[in-house]
Amino acid sequence: MKKIHSLTGMIDLISNKVSKDDIASKIFYTENVLKNIFESYSISEIRTPGLEDTDLFKRSVGDNSDIVNKELYSFFDKNDKSITLRPEGTASVIRSIIEKKIDSESHKLWYLGPMWRYERPQKGRYRQFNQAGVEILGYPEGLAEIEIVSIICSIMKKLKIDDSVLKINHLGDKKSKQEFCIALENFLKPLATKLDERDLQRLNNNPLRILDSKNPETQKILNDAPKIKDFLSNESLDILDLIKSTFSDECNIEIDHNLVRGLDYYTGFVFEAVSSNLGAQDAYLGGGRYDDLCLELGGKEMPAIGMAIGIERLASLAKTLDKPKTLVSLIIISSNIEPKAYKIAHKLRSISDSINIDVQLSNGSLKSKLRRANKDNAAYALIIGEHELETETVIIKPLLDQNSEQTVMSFLDIESFIKEIG
Ligand code: HAM
Repeated sequence: MKKIHSLTGMIDLISNKVSKDDIASKIFYTENVLKNIFESYSISEIRTPGLEDTDLFKRSVGDNSDIVNKELYSFFDKNDKSITLRPEGTASVIRSIIEKKIDSESHKLWYLGPMWRYERPQKGRYRQFNQAGVEILGYPEGLAEIEIVSIICSIMKKLKIDDSVLKINHLGDKKSKQEFCIALENFLKPLATKLDERDLQRLNNNPLRILDSKNPETQKILNDAPKIKDFLSNESLDILDLIKSTFSDECNIEIDHNLVRGLDYYTGFVFEAVSSNLGAQDAYLGGGRYDDLCLELGGKEMPAIGMAIGIERLASLAKTLDKPKTLVSLIIISSNIEPKAYKIAHKLRSISDSINIDVQLSNGSLKSKLRRANKDNAAYALIIGEHELETETVIIKPLLDQNSEQTVMSFLDIESFIKEIG
């Protein structure tokens, strides 16, 4: 009888206890590490269906992207409705949030599961692959960017990923993006006859996407084109510098003003982590801010930022693992010290593998933050305000034991305290 094979670009993953498949075991192990890291940031899980209405991806990932143009697995179901195997997770998460009418609240969500893109299979590029993603919803540009990069640095550190660069860029706020697009259009329109059909379409629909063109002719033309960085506001440039300086001791971060992403929904800060150990498909994670997507999909105005990791690619680079346990809630009570206080949380996370640290990103009062810490069953609240930062101290409030008094500890002592409770 004729044997039935798996489809091109679709692989089976079987534990190496069953078959000598090392990459599968590395993938399962990497998934566990990622789940633990996401939980350590107090991020909640979301699972959305593999199949969605085709329009969801056309309206989010965008008609101009390769994903929608060439790579969608779309079918007509028995009711003649066009449905698509999801090529990515962000659009589905936002669809779900809107559908559940929780798009006016803030959320931190993670997901993990298979995605499908009809690509030409090669090393590190499959037609069915697994992604783990994080979406931080409801927070404007600022601390949420720092949290995303903190998560990325934690992943790199935990899995001992070396030879890796996190490339970051900013696509501009609304005003600068508009001005840049007009300048780019004015520059390219007289040269339109030299552009291929795809790039011409990009120029007409979303000029920014032309920067991602793989056509060498277009790339040559773009050498003399206006540059994004000349249009960026000081705020946009500052956020790039802030991220680079906050984490430069943790991971290799490069500002790359040529970085644009292959999906249409990005609006501000964007990034990609690449490793020279991966070969031609060198990006193992990517993401950015997409403040307009919720509104564009029929929901409320909701600032958002997120990232997705290609599990197969990350697993092929990964090296080790362990488990976090005790939840500590870090409460920053003055907005102008947030990045510095955040960096303290980032350092504390690296001290013990057995604690989870939740930095509350909202602007709420101390009381409301303590209420949330109690609701989440945090064992301790660490409270940092301007006075604490000046005196290099932290207030420690035990939350599980009603009889314990709060204490004040120096930055140095807090490190041994974290080791003790971890
Ligand atoms: P993306 O850059 O299209 O972003 O995909 C993220 C990662 O998925 C890539 O960096 C790569 O590692 C992996 N990946 C993509 N295609 C394949 C493939 N054919 N085979 C193996 N791995 C692949 C997104 O999907 C956005 N949703 C990220 C995001 C989340 N932006 C905001 N929130």
